[in-house]
Amino acid sequence: MCGIVGATSERRVSGILLEGLKRLEYRGYDSAGIAVIDKSQHLQTIKRTGKVQALADAIDETPVDGTIGIAHTRWATHGGVTERNAHPHLSEHEIAVVHNGIIENHETLREQLQALGYEFVSQTDTEVIAHLIHHERKTHNDLLDALKAAVRQLEGAYGTVVMDTKDPERLVVARSGSPLVIGVGIGENFVASDQLALLPVTRKFIYLEEGDVADINRSDIKIYDSANEAVEREVIDSDVNYDAGGKGQYRHFMLKEIHEQPIAVRNALEGRLSETTVLDDAFGEGAADLFKTIEHVQIIACGTSYHAGMVAKYWLESMANISCNVEIASEFRYRQSFVRPNSLLVTISQSGETADTLAALRLSKEMGYRGSLTICNVATSSMVRESDLAFMTRAGAEIGVASTKAFTTQLTGLLMLTVAIGKYRGMNEQQQAAIVKALQTLPAKLEEAVELDTEIEALAPDFASKDHSLFLGRGNQYPIAMEGALKLKEISYIHAEAYAAGELKHGPLALIDEEMPVIVVAPNNELLEKLKSNVEEVRARGGIMYVFSDKNARFTSDDTMNVLNVCHCDEVIAPIVYTIPLQLLSYYVAIIKGTDVDQPRNLAKSVTVE
Ligand code: AGP
Repeated sequence: MCGIVGATSERRVSGILLEGLKRLEYRGYDSAGIAVIDKSQHLQTIKRTGKVQALADAIDETPVDGTIGIAHTRWATHGGVTERNAHPHLSEHEIAVVHNGIIENHETLREQLQALGYEFVSQTDTEVIAHLIHHERKTHNDLLDALKAAVRQLEGAYGTVVMDTKDPERLVVARSGSPLVIGVGIGENFVASDQLALLPVTRKFIYLEEGDVADINRSDIKIYDSANEAVEREVIDSDVNYDAGGKGQYRHFMLKEIHEQPIAVRNALEGRLSETTVLDDAFGEGAADLFKTIEHVQIIACGTSYHAGMVAKYWLESMANISCNVEIASEFRYRQSFVRPNSLLVTISQSGETADTLAALRLSKEMGYRGSLTICNVATSSMVRESDLAFMTRAGAEIGVASTKAFTTQLTGLLMLTVAIGKYRGMNEQQQAAIVKALQTLPAKLEEAVELDTEIEALAPDFASKDHSLFLGRGNQYPIAMEGALKLKEISYIHAEAYAAGELKHGPLALIDEEMPVIVVAPNNELLEKLKSNVEEVRARGGIMYVFSDKNARFTSDDTMNVLNVCHCDEVIAPIVYTIPLQLLSYYVAIIKGTDVDQPRNLAKSVTVE
């Protein structure tokens, strides 16, 4: 979502801030801005709509010069995409604020501040923070005290960083609901919404906890917890490796990340399998004790991660002999749900910061769940820190907004979870060993699937001129069809819908004509014959089909059907393998359509507001 960077140093900070913004741009990217305090203690501010490059170009023309500054990339929530609405927001040219999250009581605060004489120039919720701190500073001698007084009045979520021209050596920051990390330097310190922004300047990080405020100057960092007690937070040495320019030979991060899947899955499996079973330790200390006691699994996630959860339901119920519900986090958190005895709550999230999923996890702690497990790609994320157990997917940094390797590594983790839970619920040794064997073949199968690249590129022109498309699958391939549809709409802007193929005759068949390409995910499994009947229903109505299938399934290409042979693989890993051709299809359609593949319009990588 939005990205924050702040720095206080002896050197000029604009370069550090801009580089940080570029590294965060994949998260949210409709406008960007920077503010520094110059030698004469004035604020210099530049904002631009569009990409960070537009801001960089503006700074090239009119350099800003200061050793303390804050910067922000925005993903609009309150107020349109304009320079006025871009952060930093100022109050009386003294206070500058950047903010991630949503201030829910901003309208009330706005009215109160207007009554006090403050003039608002933007439509954002953030501007109230700037004026509120300015107002509080009149009665508090210290900037940090003014911040503390201001945040006590805020409802909603915030990660915020504040500068004051009257106190020009300090950044004061507050976290509640939106992550902030402090970067510890030598004679300089930093703050950001994600450590990726600060990797060029430091490897030492302090993660703020919920309710923390911090006071940061060049040589010192003081942190106070939600009870206003001074606290020491651990300094963590980061081993994350992220090269901002790192598309390598690839045109886009998404294509690179598609091609990285064999290695990402290999990493996800590494050291977590014995010859015959999955090692409980893969899920963290105490996993076995928890898995032995659970009788139900509740999965919560959003978007692509939700699709991974849907596949897991098929696996858990059919192989681990345990009931499983899957729910979209934004629905789960706002309804009264029934908690079955001895339930395990599983959250799935690439980022570990998705607001709805995180809120659901927090909520579950008061609901009587036996324990929580997160399947996550970011070790330092809130979800990992706040869950009882964690399975790290080890996909490596995923920069493309469209999730690819995060999804296939989540599925890999969830298949391992099926064995880890199943072994306490009657899954016998042969069954465990058979899944392990299939998992061991997975990286090689994914390599074969990635090699379909050129063949799929050749299919893409058929889709690029279409406005709609339909994806069909059955069983555990139904969520894969949903994921294929999500990928296509997300990056090519073509309307795509997925249906369980058996549902076709209950309505969607009415849509079929030669203008509606139908993509069928058809591995050679026990549902193949049923699926073939659905294929015939489409054919009989003049539909044009693209069938992704195993040679042994015996589909043949003709006027109405294009068959693309996917490598033969064990049925249990087929959902993971069949994901790849669908990712490639959406990628190449987007290329023809000329969309912004890595940063599609209106979207953000990490959705930290609800
Ligand atoms: C998928 O391509 C999207 N980027 C999106 O649906 C994403 O999966 C969703 O926002 C959840 O994110 P998370 O996995 O970081 O929680």
